[in-house]
Amino acid sequence: MKVCVLGAAGGIGQPLSLLLKLQLPAGSELSLYDVAPFTPGVAVDLSHIPTDVCVTGYVGDDVEAAMQDADIVVIPAGVPRKPGMTRDDLFNMNAGIVKKLVGVGAKACPGACFAIVTNPVNSTVPIAAEVLKAAGVYDKRKLFGVTTLDVIRSNTFVAQTVGKSTDEVNVNVIGGHSGVTILPLLSSIPGVELGQADIEALTPRIQEAGTEVVEAKAGAGSATLSMAQAAARFTMSLVAAMNGEAVTECCYVQVGDDSSSFHAQPVVLGKDGVDSIPEIPPLSDYEQKVLDDMRETLAGNIKKGIEFANAE
Ligand code: LMR
Repeated sequence: MKVCVLGAAGGIGQPLSLLLKLQLPAGSELSLYDVAPFTPGVAVDLSHIPTDVCVTGYVGDDVEAAMQDADIVVIPAGVPRKPGMTRDDLFNMNAGIVKKLVGVGAKACPGACFAIVTNPVNSTVPIAAEVLKAAGVYDKRKLFGVTTLDVIRSNTFVAQTVGKSTDEVNVNVIGGHSGVTILPLLSSIPGVELGQADIEALTPRIQEAGTEVVEAKAGAGSATLSMAQAAARFTMSLVAAMNGEAVTECCYVQVGDDSSSFHAQPVVLGKDGVDSIPEIPPLSDYEQKVLDDMRETLAGNIKKGIEFANAE
């Protein structure tokens, strides 16, 4: 298994690479790429940790070599938010980065699973889809927006609210990955009963949890450590699925026949990426309204990505 991290020397990339060095199966290759000149040094640093995962570092023009024949490409590369910004405000800086990197991946590892962390995920994933389509290698089963941070935040906040261990809480989060498009399904958590008042307090907190971190970091960026954990969990689920285990994770994938139909929801992962997409569990009236209210925003985010990818 070759896993490539693009943006590996950054705030998310470094802890993500550490977690993967510790967790990938023995015999795996971890390939790290970043524009930062010290990226090969990050690889050397990680290579001293005694696990049977071989780490290599690439910089500058070597992105194609970094991605060559990768099975999974994880992309946290890009610029983070500052206080007062929405994820969509990152579009102008990050859209081009994703377009370029996925364009290289289309040649270097056309059969890989691509897991996009770079914000705004609601738009960068459709960009990646268009780039892969233009190269004739798009497989909708193999392109993911990583929304796992919404899941692990929901699990943490719900566990704190009801006094359970986080291990006992598994919240499904659907929609997209920004503000009103994040919908945690708090009315149907297995083994947990939340009152409507708690649901209506927790939902906006989960929707704005990224902003909570951005404000707490006061200009120094957005979530890095929790995002690294989330991306590592998603990557390890993909690895397990590609090795034959059926694993379910919420993630942002193409759910319909055309690429305007991206949506986050529970997805069964298998050997070739998406194996099946089960029906979303029944929604409460409150959840249905949040879902109905987000549709226009999500559709606009997707359209913006598609138009950007196809411009020029
Ligand atoms: C998050 O959810 O923390 C990330 O998407 C980063 C951000 O800008 O909020």
